[in-house]
Amino acid sequence: MSDQPLPDLPPFPPGFRFGVSTAAYQIEGAVAEDGRGPSIWDTFAHTPGRIRDGHTGDIACDHYHRWESDLDLIARLGAGAYRFSIAWPRIQPTGSGPANQAGLDFYDRLVDGLAARGIDQVVTLFHWDLPQALQDEGGWANRDTAMRFGEYAELVGERLGDRVKLWITLNEPYIHFALGHVQGIHAPGLTMLTDQLPVVHHLLLGHGLAVSALRRTSSAPVTLANNHSPVWPASDSEEDRTAAIIYDMVQNHLFADPVLLGEYPPGYELLTTADVDSIIMEGDLEVISQPIQALGVNYYNPSRIAAPPEGDPLPFVRLPIDGYPMTAFDWPVVPDGLRELLVGLKDRYGDKLPPIWITESGCSWPDLDDRFRIDYIAGDLRAVHSAIQAGVAVHGYCTWSLMDNFEWAEGFHQRFGLVHVDFDTQARTPRRSFEWYRQICTTAAPRPDLQGDPTG
Ligand code: FCB
Repeated sequence: MSDQPLPDLPPFPPGFRFGVSTAAYQIEGAVAEDGRGPSIWDTFAHTPGRIRDGHTGDIACDHYHRWESDLDLIARLGAGAYRFSIAWPRIQPTGSGPANQAGLDFYDRLVDGLAARGIDQVVTLFHWDLPQALQDEGGWANRDTAMRFGEYAELVGERLGDRVKLWITLNEPYIHFALGHVQGIHAPGLTMLTDQLPVVHHLLLGHGLAVSALRRTSSAPVTLANNHSPVWPASDSEEDRTAAIIYDMVQNHLFADPVLLGEYPPGYELLTTADVDSIIMEGDLEVISQPIQALGVNYYNPSRIAAPPEGDPLPFVRLPIDGYPMTAFDWPVVPDGLRELLVGLKDRYGDKLPPIWITESGCSWPDLDDRFRIDYIAGDLRAVHSAIQAGVAVHGYCTWSLMDNFEWAEGFHQRFGLVHVDFDTQARTPRRSFEWYRQICTTAAPRPDLQGDPTG
């Protein structure tokens, strides 16, 4: 396989951005430095049995100390955009009150360091690391958390809003909700089987309040990054098709319809036994559905859904997808699923769909000679290209991830990086995919003016 010629790609539209993504808790380390408070991921990772082999993000890639050489790597890659996240507990150690200047200073240096290297800053405000003090007050189940998130967004916008090129309010609210609050395999480790709607609604309200705050403090476009997945019913039976409709609603529409259409999708009431009017207050949907200038899409694989076995508390079950190559994480590689979902988003939202950025996609693959990853990214990019040909506006692609990092419940066992990291020595070694992607970044789309509006 290794000897076959490397994949070529069709040309992308001028100005299309190729980039790389990371997230704060997965790379930064330095969890107790410069006034950072604890987040729910610190607590969760330090709870025995939660993370494979007891790994934690205490040190991770030590990016907090190595950020300059890491930015040099991104520059060497020729990437036009770098998506990173801000750790809320560095800015507000207990989730409210005045900003911790040392925390803001770190991201200020990062933003300037990117500008100096000609790389667009794509900044996520919430990549799951909620300040623990807010979780102690109920976390996203508490409406107050949405208000706090708006205030935090304002503090960040005031400091960085003149330079950031694209804002992302929330990363994958669906995954944070489902894995963190229903299945309990991510922080905060809750298993709420009823009354899930408050968490969903407050995440969305937090998004809306952050949009308002960023509109006051920055002229850069704003988006949120949803994890979308085409849903395939396991059979034609009515039971499996009904289960697939419910699954599609929660994964694909629950966090997109309120933002893009100003209403919840049919069936959302299933998520609570309480009166929905006690959760969704008057005016909330207007706040949530303020215009966003881009939609972030994270894609990994489709979902094959069947009716649940008798006695299962959830109304659907995810089944394995056979017949495709598998990543080291045992995720099926289905590049056409990305085209399918992009075209599906256009069909559903029509003119209400803003330009799309692929804010994540990638695969776990450990080898330095990672032809597997090259083929994975090439498959993604061909899918994006055919969606563009089909009339979907896609303006950027940030692969997950720049370098191996702390992969949540899997600890350091899944390696998603273009760059290999030796977690004992912190040595960074670019994989074969780094060199291939460098050629893509530097040749596949002309880069006329990286200072322009990345959604334009
Ligand atoms: C996504 C997360 C990202 C990373 C990838 C593999 O769900 O947003 O942080 O862990 O999965």
